[in-house]
This record gives sequence, structure tokens and C-alpha cells, in this order.
Amino acid sequence: IGLSDSLELRIFLFAFFFVFYVGIVFGNLLIVVTVTSDSRLHSPMYFLLANLSFIDLSLSSVTAPKMIADFFSKHKVISVKGCFAQIFLLHFFGGSEMVTLIAMAFDRYVAICKPLRYTTIMCGNVCVGIVAAAWGIGFLHSVSQLAFAVNLPFCGPNKVDSFYCDLPRVIKLACADTYRLDIMVVANSGILTVCSFVLLIISYTIILMTIQRRPSDRSSKALSTLTAHITVVLLFFGPCIFIYAWPFPIKSLDKFLAVFYSVVTPLLNPIIYTLRNTEMKIAMRRLRQWNLKLWVKS
Ligand SMILES: *[C@@H]1O[C@H](CO)[C@@H](O)[C@H](O)[C@H]1NC(C)=O
Repeated sequence: IGLSDSLELRIFLFAFFFVFYVGIVFGNLLIVVTVTSDSRLHSPMYFLLANLSFIDLSLSSVTAPKMIADFFSKHKVISVKGCFAQIFLLHFFGGSEMVTLIAMAFDRYVAICKPLRYTTIMCGNVCVGIVAAAWGIGFLHSVSQLAFAVNLPFCGPNKVDSFYCDLPRVIKLACADTYRLDIMVVANSGILTVCSFVLLIISYTIILMTIQRRPSDRSSKALSTLTAHITVVLLFFGPCIFIYAWPFPIKSLDKFLAVFYSVVTPLLNPIIYTLRNTEMKIAMRRLRQWNLKLWVKS
């Protein structure tokens, strides 16, 4: 059904989402290219950041392009396969994003609370392992949920009241008693979201308490990095918890909240990390000069 019926609102939303999505593509690609091309940024924190950017870009690409293309089409249609593909990819990237956010919090925890052991704890293998675990957990989470939903009988109702397919809404269309499936979604997605969120809040609380006991000049830089991380975490998890784990969903609010993790947080990461992080800014300047040199030579 999409987000709105009114033409004025649709034009506004189209412009809004179009600009956001272009920003997401450019911003996140810029982070990935900057981190991979600059050897001075080859540290766990920046590797995780580049991975987060890649996931953000993918997560947003699952829903945003179709939503943008659908604003002015009369019949907003998606095939059953397309619908399940959206569900699968959404949970795959969403699960990976949660694990990556936890990994980034862990990385900051080690860097701030155990600085002397940072290089031994966060060595190359551990970092690769964390990234592999993120993709693996995302995959398992997505498959384990979808396995229950693919065999549902669909016999009539086929309108999804949102701008993308997601389990809670698609399950409602099945001609079967879906009570158990609803519980399963809350148990799987809901618990994953709430546990990740609690884990993140605990780690950031420990980090903040450690920082408070420090002399102020070094801690202010750490504090600004942390506030950025915490903002992303709150904006990503708030809507997710509301959609999957809140027992009394207010359905019309759900789809507007979903806008947060499909276009708002994926844009926020590049903004937060590129505008506020000096090392990133310096690396981007180097990248630009290097490109300019290549261009002048050719
Ligand atoms: C993700 O992290 C791994 C492991 O540290 C790294 O090798 C890889 O380059 C990162 N991916 C991106 C897109 O930066």
C-alpha cells in the first residue's frame, strides 16, 4: 500500500527519500573506499566501520529503491518471491548490523578500558572472525525465521500495509492460524533485538564510567566518539524493538518507524563518522589529492 495516498505528501516523501538514498549510496561507498585504500586506517575500528557502512548500504537497498520507484506507480506490486527475498535480506543484513554494532562497542571497550592489551586482543584474526560471525549470525537468524513462513498457505488477502514486506505483516495475510508464528517472530527477532540492545547499553555504560575517572583532555575525544556510537544504536534499535518486541503494536505507526532503519540510520553513519572524525577527514583529503594527481598525470 505504501506510505501515503495524498499526492502532495507523496511528492514530498519522494524528494525526501530520493535525497536520503543518494546520500546513503555516496556516503557509505566513500567510507568503504577511504578505509580500504588508506593503510593508515587499517585498524579494527575502521574495518568494522567500513563493514557497517557496507551493511547499511545493503540494508537500505533492500527497501528504499523499490519504495522510491513505487511512489508514482498506480499499482504497487511485488511478487511473492520478491516479497520473501525482501524479508530474507532485511533480516540477514539487519542481524549482521546488530552483531557489527556490538563488535564496535566491544572494540571501544577494549581500546578504552584495556588499552595496553588492545593490540593483542583485537588482532587481525579476531577482527576477521568477528566479521564472519556477524554474517553467519545474520544468515542463521534470517533462515531460521523464514523457514517457518515459506510454507504458509496464501489464499486471498494480498495487500501489505507498508512500503516493504516484513514478517509480521506478511504472516497476517496467510489463511491459517498464525498465533504461533507471531510468537516465533517475537521470540526470534524480538529477543535478538532486545538482547543486543541490553548488551550494548551495558558495554557503553561501563565505557562511560571508565572515562569519567580519566583526565579530561583525552576523554573528551573518546566521549565524542562514544556519543556518536550511542546515537546510532538508539536510533537503530528503538524502532526495531518497537516493531518486533513490543507486545501491543500500533500498526499505523510501525511503517513510519521502519523508515528509521531503512533510510535514516544508514545515512547517519557516514555523517557522524566523516564530519566528526578527524582521521577520516584527513584520509579523505589524501584520497582526493591522490585522485587529482592521477587525473593530472593522465
Ligand atoms: C570488513 O572487515 C574485514 C575484517 O577486518 C576486512 O578485511 C574487510 O576489508 C572489511 N570490509 C570492508 C568492506 O571494509
